[in-house]
Amino acid sequence: MPDSIIPPTDPAAQRPAGMGTQAARTPVVLLPGDGIGPEVTAATRRICDAAGAAIDWRAAEAGAACFAKGIATGVPRATLDLVAEAGVVLKAPLETAVGYGGKSVNVTLRNLFEMYGNLRPVKELPGVKTPFSGRGIDMLIVRENIEDLYAGIEHMQTPNVAQSLKLMSVQGCDRILRLAFTLAQAEGRKRVTCVTKANIMKLTEGMMKRRFEAMAPQYPGIAADHLIVDNCAHQMVIRPERLDVIVTSNLFGDILSDLAAGLVGGLGVAPSANVGARVAMFEAVHGSAPDIAGKGLANPTALLLAACMMLRHIGQGAIAQRIEKALFRTLEAGTALTADLARAHPPVSTGAFTDAVIAALELAPPAQAPVAAAKLATPAVPAATIVPEKREVIGVDVFVESRGPVRQLAEAVEQTIGDTPFVLKMISNRGAQAWPATVELEDMVDHWRCRFVMKKPGAWATEGHILALLQRVSLVTSWIHIEKLQRFDGEDGFSKAQGEA
Ligand code: NAI
Repeated sequence: MPDSIIPPTDPAAQRPAGMGTQAARTPVVLLPGDGIGPEVTAATRRICDAAGAAIDWRAAEAGAACFAKGIATGVPRATLDLVAEAGVVLKAPLETAVGYGGKSVNVTLRNLFEMYGNLRPVKELPGVKTPFSGRGIDMLIVRENIEDLYAGIEHMQTPNVAQSLKLMSVQGCDRILRLAFTLAQAEGRKRVTCVTKANIMKLTEGMMKRRFEAMAPQYPGIAADHLIVDNCAHQMVIRPERLDVIVTSNLFGDILSDLAAGLVGGLGVAPSANVGARVAMFEAVHGSAPDIAGKGLANPTALLLAACMMLRHIGQGAIAQRIEKALFRTLEAGTALTADLARAHPPVSTGAFTDAVIAALELAPPAQAPVAAAKLATPAVPAATIVPEKREVIGVDVFVESRGPVRQLAEAVEQTIGDTPFVLKMISNRGAQAWPATVELEDMVDHWRCRFVMKKPGAWATEGHILALLQRVSLVTSWIHIEKLQRFDGEDGFSKAQGEA
């Protein structure tokens, strides 16, 4: 486990590691969650308490039970207030209905409290044998946690076409990049790899890559490189030991970090932290495992490791150290493991595994002892707002719904905009130019982008021009949304269609 973790948000955390007293217990909101949540939470709490953690546990509700009570967000006001007050949360998995219904409570909590960084340490654990054991895997995935497709800003465009907006900001990129470099420095790591799909999404993913390249020289002691996300997935399997710190956007980070967890023993042993300026929330990577819930089969290791990250965060690093030693010893001995990890010996229940870790708290350290904790100050991220000197609107994309052949749509649109200052440059279908046709596209859907540019070279489009254009377009087809074609200091702020000149 990497040992440095984000800064304490609680002044009580400034005391020496592990020196908590009855009088100075740190408040931690405990969300027992859904499915196996209550089982792994009870185990984790029991071990923390037995190890002497000075925590004032404040159990609170969130998740399925709250949805069932009709709380639309799945998080009651009282829980939000407790989180805001304590600033530290240990959260068990929460169920999310797939594809319909309520929003993910996990995502709601991350977004409401601006926990912009998701940290996933991935390191081999003693006694947990995988095809990759012995390779020296020790990476830290730093995933942007708020922006990107994960914001879930979605609209049905037509009855047949759905859209999800991928928004990425300079500020969002800068703060996650800064966090990655700061963590790398604090943990004495050698390399930060920025992972994007900038070759295809040049404006969103490209922004992350450009900001990374601009920031990297500020950290001369750390090697900085870039991988395209598909290659990164490949590298993770081929040469995982090469990877050190990975910084990436939200959706790619989501997928890559589960892949990485699989390299070292799977979701049952993978912890994570969500960090922001005010609140830090620690959790297991796995979900609520409804298939084994209530059966005493769940492995609490992931939540326990997350609790160790949390203990370091609140200044109780010595307790974290003690718990990790006991856990590593139990894993290494292999005699009391839950079904997901048990190999040479019959599996034991969640409760028996917990008892074994507690008993091991008193024993000698294992061969692979955890490293001592280091603390880290919050990276200061200056508000980066780019203000271009010159900004032009050179046209507008109007997205329309139409079922007829594209030639017919083009003719009707050209006719109706005849006396506006715009000319129809092209029409595309899902990003590929369909008119004027370079190749005959098949299987068109009912969602088209009509790209209009100013007739007069060098002229700018005003809001009035665009409103007049929309009025004309609506005479011949139904428009859905528009995007201005902007140029900032002479650079296009929009992508071209495939096949567009
Ligand atoms: P899952 O992680 O709950 O289960 C995947 C498989 O791993 C299952 O076979 C399960 O039995 C096993 N597993 C997971 N954790 C384990 C543990 N601690 N010990 C032993 N075996 C374990 O993933 P799934 O089934 O896709 O999701 C179930 C629910 O959890 C969904 O509602 C999902 O939205 C939610 N979820 C919540 C997360 C969170 O709260 N952070 C994260 C991922 C999923």
